[in-house]
Amino acid sequence: MLMEEIQKKGSLVFAVNGEKIELPCIDPSTTLLQFLRSDTCFKSPKLGCGEGGCGACVVLVSKYDPKLKKVEDFSVSSCLTLLCSLNGCSITTSEGLGNTRDGFHSIHERFAGFHASQCGFCTPGMCMSFFSALVNAEKGNKPNPPPGFSKLTSSEAEKAIAGNLCRCTGYRPIADACKTFAADVDIEDLGFNSFWKKGDSKETKVSKLPPYDPTKNFSTYPEFLKSESAMNLDSSRYPWYSPVSIEELQSLLNSNLTENGASFKLVVGNTGTGYYKETQRYDHYVDLRYIPELSIVKRDQTGIEVGATVTISKLISFLKEESKVNYGSYGKLVSEKLAYHMEKIASPFVRNSASVGGNLVMAQKNGFPSDIATLFLGLSATVSLMTSHGLEKLTWEELLSRPPLDSRTVLLSVSIPFKKDRNSKFLFETYRAAPRPHGNALAYVNAAFQADVSLYQNGVLINNIQLAFGAYGTKHATRAKKVEEYLTGKILNVHVLYEALKLVKLAVIPEDGTLHPEYRSSLAVSYVFEFLYPFTDVHSAISGGLLAGINDISVEEVSKSSNDGCISQGRKQTLLSSAKQVVESSTEYYPVGEPMKKVGAAMQAAGEAVYVDDIPSPPNCLHGAFIYSTKPLAAVKGIQLKSNQLTDGVTDIITFKDIPSGGANIGAIRLFDPEPLFADDLAQCAGDRIAVVVADSQRSADVAARTALIDYDTANMDSPMLTVEEAVEKSSFIQIPPFLHPKEVGDFSKGMAEADHKILSAEIRLGSEYYFYMETQTALAIPDEDNCMVVYTSSQSPENAHHVIASCLGVPEHNIRVITRRVGGGFGGKSVRAMPVSTACALAAYKLRRPVRIYVNRNSDMIMTGGRHPMKVTYSVGFKSSGKITALHLDILINAGITEDISPILPLNVINSLKKYDWGALSFDVKLCKTNLTSKSTMRGPGDVQGSYIAEAIIEHVSSLLSMEVDSVRNKNVHTFESLNLFYDNIVEAGEYTLPSIMDKLAVSSSFFQRSKMIEQFNQKNTWKKRGISRVPIVFEAMQRASPGKVSILQDGSIVVEVGGIELGQGLWTKVRQMTAYALGLIESSWAEDLVEKVRVIQADTLSVVQGGFTAGSTTSESSCEAIRLCCNVLVERLTPLKKQLQEKNGSVDWPTLIRQAQKQSVSLAANSYYVPEFGSGSYLNFGAAVSEVEIDILTGETTILQSDIIYDCGQSLNPAVDMGQIEGAFVQGIGFFMNEEYLTNKDGLMVSNSTWTYKIPTIDTIPQNFNVHVVNSGHHKKRVLSSKTSGEPPLLLAASVHCATRAAIKAAREQLKLWDKLDASVSEFYLDVPAILPVVKTQCGLDYVEKFLETLLAQKSN
Ligand SMILES: Cc1cc2nc3c(=O)[nH]c(=O)nc-3n(C[C@H](O)[C@H](O)[C@H](O)COP(=O)(O)OP(=O)(O)OC[C@H]3O[C@@H](n4cnc5c(N)ncnc54)[C@H](O)[C@@H]3O)c2cc1C
Ligand code: FES
Ligand code: FES
Repeated sequence: MLMEEIQKKGSLVFAVNGEKIELPCIDPSTTLLQFLRSDTCFKSPKLGCGEGGCGACVVLVSKYDPKLKKVEDFSVSSCLTLLCSLNGCSITTSEGLGNTRDGFHSIHERFAGFHASQCGFCTPGMCMSFFSALVNAEKGNKPNPPPGFSKLTSSEAEKAIAGNLCRCTGYRPIADACKTFAADVDIEDLGFNSFWKKGDSKETKVSKLPPYDPTKNFSTYPEFLKSESAMNLDSSRYPWYSPVSIEELQSLLNSNLTENGASFKLVVGNTGTGYYKETQRYDHYVDLRYIPELSIVKRDQTGIEVGATVTISKLISFLKEESKVNYGSYGKLVSEKLAYHMEKIASPFVRNSASVGGNLVMAQKNGFPSDIATLFLGLSATVSLMTSHGLEKLTWEELLSRPPLDSRTVLLSVSIPFKKDRNSKFLFETYRAAPRPHGNALAYVNAAFQADVSLYQNGVLINNIQLAFGAYGTKHATRAKKVEEYLTGKILNVHVLYEALKLVKLAVIPEDGTLHPEYRSSLAVSYVFEFLYPFTDVHSAISGGLLAGINDISVEEVSKSSNDGCISQGRKQTLLSSAKQVVESSTEYYPVGEPMKKVGAAMQAAGEAVYVDDIPSPPNCLHGAFIYSTKPLAAVKGIQLKSNQLTDGVTDIITFKDIPSGGANIGAIRLFDPEPLFADDLAQCAGDRIAVVVADSQRSADVAARTALIDYDTANMDSPMLTVEEAVEKSSFIQIPPFLHPKEVGDFSKGMAEADHKILSAEIRLGSEYYFYMETQTALAIPDEDNCMVVYTSSQSPENAHHVIASCLGVPEHNIRVITRRVGGGFGGKSVRAMPVSTACALAAYKLRRPVRIYVNRNSDMIMTGGRHPMKVTYSVGFKSSGKITALHLDILINAGITEDISPILPLNVINSLKKYDWGALSFDVKLCKTNLTSKSTMRGPGDVQGSYIAEAIIEHVSSLLSMEVDSVRNKNVHTFESLNLFYDNIVEAGEYTLPSIMDKLAVSSSFFQRSKMIEQFNQKNTWKKRGISRVPIVFEAMQRASPGKVSILQDGSIVVEVGGIELGQGLWTKVRQMTAYALGLIESSWAEDLVEKVRVIQADTLSVVQGGFTAGSTTSESSCEAIRLCCNVLVERLTPLKKQLQEKNGSVDWPTLIRQAQKQSVSLAANSYYVPEFGSGSYLNFGAAVSEVEIDILTGETTILQSDIIYDCGQSLNPAVDMGQIEGAFVQGIGFFMNEEYLTNKDGLMVSNSTWTYKIPTIDTIPQNFNVHVVNSGHHKKRVLSSKTSGEPPLLLAASVHCATRAAIKAAREQLKLWDKLDASVSEFYLDVPAILPVVKTQCGLDYVEKFLETLLAQKSN
């Protein structure tokens, strides 16, 4: 067909994984992700956030340019990309790269082999982000790499995935898998994997990697599409316009487009909807990307002009090229700095479609905290607009001060003028400090400064200066004019700078309601200081050769060469620099103990693994979304849905009134009492479930729920209790049953009497943490015959979900079947908290007699699901002058939220992990406070994390009072074998207490003492960076629970295994598979290896295996393994005599023959079991220790984790690769709790940091740069499952080492202040909040540190 004909036809045509798709009509607001997931079989792009913030949905888009005959490939977030914008494009998803049928791509296989996929929910998106980088690297003109490698560098490989979130792995293995493709990688640096063995030569290692051959790379753009690419969609069928000239755009905007109140939207990348979620439908879209003038970026003598639709990625590439030419020019300097800064905006897959114009318009119109707006303000940019009156040119600053642009005004381009004055030197620098150094985080403050300066009378004269600040809680970026005026014409010296900084503080004042306002103001001061301080001492600048003969200098260059040691570090931007994993595996129970790769990991990477939301919707399926209360305590008088095109498909609102007679308002079972499914007439907390809106699509349901108006009545209502103090005042407590009471040790008064020193009533407060599993809560309920219901749920406890659903519907339990195949991350959040979702789903399906599915959106999930327990601890401690603690008493108030959930186990967990030290005597009073907050639930190490941390905080406090090294106080109080058994009820047998040896080993392997010395020296030499190091031990009590299993052998000898435990990414299936092979291999040990491949562990089905219980508490893998071993024992007993017979008869026998014969002889080939731990052997202790070293930046409060070393005792690990993954992943999740994740609620207790924009889990750039883990095999443990110990939760506690090291670094910063005589408080007696985010760290160093430094200099000068 001719091109013209196609254009006339004007259909939306594109390709997905090489398949042509033509859509005669489509709702133009449909995103690519919605289309792929609901209308194709390609489910690898996952919905993790819908905000562009997680990368789970990343796909590759390929565009063909018929003129240049070139294909452009780039990654995008499919959750934000509109389908209509992809006309003529080709889309590749992870299953398009490779799959089970056609063979996996080497990316998938290397991810699997490097143990880089746990729950697998993030993995397809990771693979596509990486693949995009790989494809583009191959196009570059770098020299050809050695065979098997790509042109990508290691650093590019890491950066490619810098914006993708993973909650399971801790990123290190993902980085390693990606780096295997890098031409510059040293193969010896790559981590633990299933491809090669210790001792293999480099060549052998390379040869064992799944082959990558770029020349055989498949085409990302199918040939057939080249002849079909068209750009104009038929506007009579699609309300989507793609004008090709400014004139056409103008006439379109002046045409009848907006007649009869029709709405329209100008659109480029549509990434703005990640921030400003749309709850209305537009009648028309106008795509600006086909107007050539708007997509051009060019440079001439006068400056750079950027068309409004130029993407941020394209601008960065252009600027990078520019910075290579014209060395020394203003253009080069500006280009370099802009490119560097812009690489920290969002993430690659957002920048690839996000336009510069879209960004600026969002800043102008909506007050978006943009970086680009600030950069351009600092550069005095000008803009061209097309308004209804015609074309207009004005400065960006003028445009910012105008009222928000109307919808018909189009930004055409931006120009950055170049400075020409040859007599002065130009300085230009930009700044941003954000929770993540490499992007995917908005800045607390951003800034762009330029100045021209000259040498004058022995000083640096400021001829002109521009200081632009943005994102600090301001409507739009602003210039600090008063500071500029003050500085202009002045010769810089310390006094001038000091005065200028005072003005900065007055100029940068965040609006009311902005978080961390003082921090932001002080950050602005830091930036200006960093910019100008090096020029206050002209001699060092001159001696560095910086002010002579060079026209343009960057501040960084001055800083680097300034030899006063002040800002000498420069900016470090490396990601993970090295990592080492040591495992001590055992072959005693082979193949148990082998570091086998995770079952199905390659399939997960290819996106073929099926999660609940990947199950195709049955015909007639409806979708539900929760309406929750935003008030903590209020009567609900009514719910009204807002009428809106997007909510047209709403079918029903389900509330407690819809519970059938005979059923009950039950949404979850906890330890004792059930929890209501819906608030009846009274909402009890902000986030309480009020109703579920059911609609024909998830989007309609979500919009209806989000815009629903709830009529509250708070008259005559008690004031809600949000804090533990309020609960105490009203005696609102949850009972702790006696068997869950922790045990006290010794006599507190006696211990206090023995003490030389005492601390009385000191306080610690800890906040909450959200699970951030990548797959949010989800369920699908399908009504079946005879009042039965099949419910698929992403749950850690299908058995209990089953019970709750039946109770709610009032049907016998045999009417319900709950199925869970795999869970996209749980971390405890899908134990109790998943039950209301599946129950509400089942209730809606029951009432409407149609299948209903609920996929809770990220914001609602964050608000409703609760999380870790906040707590307040008051302690009194007595200790000797030697540091030995003699007595500790704690009053612990735990905020349990509105329902009991699993909270009664918290006191025991807190105290048990706190008992890791010998406190002499230990007494406590723990109260569980019932408040009007969402129910707090189990989260990885519930209570254990807090308890272990509280112990460290107390040790820190004691050592600071004694002015002793914290490490020596720790050592003084680590248990002896005897004291350990005193505190833990004689649980440990002789030889099992490995902690002291782990601590010693770690001191050696991490060079702890040498590094401590080096850090002292570092801190003496460096004014603005301080380092700290800390070694932290843990003791964690794990408890085994009963667990069922079932093993069935099929005719061909393949084996099906069912267990009570759920595969959450923790490798349960892999361990169970190994155990099956081992245990059945007892018939004939040489069969064991082959048997592994014959085993398939299948989904949990509550009607097939009963009594599955909870998958929680770290021990489910081993309990499931043990249950399977019991089943296998039965089968072995049945099959061994037969095997002997056959062997005697035939001389030899193999597994298939044995099974065939068993079938013939009617030997039962199925066995089930219920493993119940022996009384007294269910609990055991885990030991480990970590050393972490951090560096803080006093100017910004940023903490960089330079190194973490972990040694962890896994007993005889069932699978060291899986356990290594658990250790690293848990540790990084712990870093999130201690350092990154700010869980914020408003005055009503409603969670407000409820998006990827505000809640920042660790990313690859926030993990330890040097990350070493040693899994110790401590040998035989007779009461454990094949001598193994658990790894799921305990290592999370070790992340406290990072927090303690940060504290040590802050202490060094405070010591320096003391030295300057500028510290009013104590050097070491300060409390560092958890999480120690940037504002917290900087606040503890002193928000006026810079001013104090300058005051010190001024005082020195005047003396
Ligand atoms: C996860 C994420 C993280 C981000 N982080 C940052 C960050 O750290 N710093 C930062 O600065 N930005 C950040 N952004 C914002 C991002 O830069 C903008 O979303 C993007 O540049 C908008 O471009 P777009 O082409 O997608 O605009 P669209 O979403 O298509 O449009 C945005 C708005 O501008 C209007 N519009 C677009 N172009 C024009 C035009 N030429 N004339 C008139 N109106 C127009 C549209 O009608 C719409 O109202 C982030 C975005 C995401 C999704
Ligand atoms: S789902 Fe698209 S980025 Fe998270
Ligand atoms: S494997 Fe990355 S989120 Fe689970």
